[in-house]
Amino acid sequence: MGHPPNSESGQSSKSSSDPASGGTAPGGKRPLEFWFLTLFPEVFPSILGSSLLGKASQRGLVSYQTIQIRDFSTDKHRTVDDTPFGGGEGMLMKPDVLHAAWSSAIERSALSRSSEGGRSLTILLSPQGRHFDQEMAKELARYDRLILICGHYEGLDERFIENCVDREVSVGDYVLTGGELPALVMTDAITRLLPGVVGNTQSLTEDSLENDLLKYPQYTRPREFQGKAVPEVLLSGDHKAIAAWRKAQREERTRERRPDLWARYLEKNPPKPSRKKR
Ligand SMILES: C[S@@+](CC[C@H](N)C(=O)[O-])C[C@H]1O[C@@H](n2cnc3c(N)ncnc32)[C@H](O)[C@@H]1O
Repeated sequence: MGHPPNSESGQSSKSSSDPASGGTAPGGKRPLEFWFLTLFPEVFPSILGSSLLGKASQRGLVSYQTIQIRDFSTDKHRTVDDTPFGGGEGMLMKPDVLHAAWSSAIERSALSRSSEGGRSLTILLSPQGRHFDQEMAKELARYDRLILICGHYEGLDERFIENCVDREVSVGDYVLTGGELPALVMTDAITRLLPGVVGNTQSLTEDSLENDLLKYPQYTRPREFQGKAVPEVLLSGDHKAIAAWRKAQREERTRERRPDLWARYLEKNPPKPSRKKR
């Protein structure tokens, strides 16, 4: 998997600064490069340019780049799909066009020209893939380049998958019309974990799913809303008591809502045996 690219190139649509510039993030780390291979590059800029994702790219922590797969078609109709051998419903994305688009991403990437090297992964969004979760987001946040292939139609020719794709990833057991939304979901979860993206890193360690627990309930002003008061302990100023309350709430929620997580949590944090009274 992950064969070396050809030297084909083509046009692409940019959604942020070009990683070919090879700029570095504050602290000297190169930005994590996201490359999206897609038939619909126009869906990316609004999400990637907004909120924390937009700030992360402005601050050089990530770079987002879209490549229009259709630009790599060689016929006058700009064909990217064809009928499956052996018959059957629908159309398949052509391996030659996909390979040319993928090669262009690798060729243009700053990582390919870096003497320091780095870690790269080509991911195909697919309902047949491994389920994406917080653990995988953490693992992928440690890479230097992620190439995300957004499928359409009935899927992709298997030979492209065998030759170029390192991992197939699913965002859940349902079938979507294309890989763009899953790619954006993954990008959001991964970018959020990069150092410097979320201001208060404490909030990351208390997030839902951290340490196999869900988040505790949260309240803001007003103190009373529609007959419901904020729990007294949160107004007490007693930080130890607040931390204990929050931990107990996280445990209770997880036990009630997510027995699978709760079982894992108990395995890692077995209840302490109560001391027998004499
Ligand atoms: C209509 S789907 C193709 C489904 C394919 N015929 C199958 O049965 O596996 C088109 C594309 O949407 C994307 N996709 C659909 N559901 C997905 C999911 N749950 N997770 C990740 N990608 C998905 C994939 O890129 C896929 O190639």
